[in-house]
Amino acid sequence: MHMHRNRHHCTTPRDPHRHQRHEHDKAVFHALLDRHQAIERTLEKRPDGIRSLTRSDDPEVVALLHDHVPSMHERLLQGFALRRWDPLYVAIFEYADAIDMDIRLLPDGVEVTETSQDPSVVPLLHAHGEAVDAFVRAGHIAASQPAPFPRPTQPQEA
Ligand code: HEM
Repeated sequence: MHMHRNRHHCTTPRDPHRHQRHEHDKAVFHALLDRHQAIERTLEKRPDGIRSLTRSDDPEVVALLHDHVPSMHERLLQGFALRRWDPLYVAIFEYADAIDMDIRLLPDGVEVTETSQDPSVVPLLHAHGEAVDAFVRAGHIAASQPAPFPRPTQPQEA
């Protein structure tokens, strides 16, 4: 399905609804970073992307995950970027059209499958999965630095 997008409109800071949405999203991911110790996560890297399970025993944290992940999916679809100072996030929003994201909300968390048919996009998905791992491990300390950016794919050996 082709989505009509207008990146300029979507990112203009003067749109009050966008602004409110961004403020909400920011409050949610800050709360997740605050409570990173209450989060458990497993990441499986696959040849075509990732599968992750992110969960918590704390229902408030589960509610934050249920808010954050669908909202980030929505922002990918709309090209409504964030963390624009972090090259990995810039790249993910740049290639958003080549990313498929499937989300299952579970009673204690969220299961995500992200794939790309484009082999050059898969390393971005792996790197982002690891970036979320780092947020879960180290909270704000991890989020205050740019995420490690994957090296360009090496040419295949004959
Ligand atoms: C402890 C903190 C955080 C948790 C637990 C969390 C959790 C997740 C999960 C489960 C996903 C789905 C992809 C995956 O499983 O790898 C995701 C995607 C995403 N998150 Fe977060 N996140 C956190 C912090 C942040 C922060 C600080 C930002 C931005 C400032 C952010 C922005 C995004 C974006 C843009 C996506 C969609 C991109 C993609 O999945 O390719 N997240 N997050």
